[in-house]
Amino acid sequence: MLGEDDYGLEWQAIHNWLGRLAAHSPFTYRHSLGVASLALNLARIYGMDQGECQAIYAGALLHDVGKITITNALLMKKGPLTREEWLVIKNHPRAGVELLTASGISPGILEFVAYHHERWDGGGYNGLKGPDIPLGARIIALADAFEAMTSQRPYQQIRTLPNALAEVENNAGTQFDPGLVPVFFTMIHKLMKTASSLPLIRP
Ligand SMILES: [Fe+2]
Repeated sequence: MLGEDDYGLEWQAIHNWLGRLAAHSPFTYRHSLGVASLALNLARIYGMDQGECQAIYAGALLHDVGKITITNALLMKKGPLTREEWLVIKNHPRAGVELLTASGISPGILEFVAYHHERWDGGGYNGLKGPDIPLGARIIALADAFEAMTSQRPYQQIRTLPNALAEVENNAGTQFDPGLVPVFFTMIHKLMKTASSLPLIRP
């Protein structure tokens, strides 16, 4: 269990890593902020306690830190990847855990980084399946996929919100934890309600 001082040190380390990620790949940094916001909202609505929410938020911020070890040419590549390139991409959760281990990041957070590319049906990077995948990693995986679908990427077309939500629904029980998907929909509706109650900012 971390004491209050340890939390302070850990957040300092998290900020340092985010700074390094922002310097290497601003695009991946912005993606990580988006994923962290979605994952934190999802964890809260799912009813997780404060400590679990903090760990999920931290894990989501750091989930792609391993991409620091990948060149921008490969991160932004549009065409199909060679087998070697695919193996480099696939190694980024492991690379992230290796980088973070030495900086005092707690094992509970490292676990989320390690398993953020698992699928509910066992078809992910490490083949973990269903409830064997840590819940925080399942939450981050769903937030990660949704953020990727709804933001512009060099190698895929941006989706409209209804289209992205349909994709989440269609993949409940295969890619995503089917228990999380309805909670995800509740969260998106809540966020949209909040947004629609805010005054529009006009240029
Ligand atoms: Fe990733």
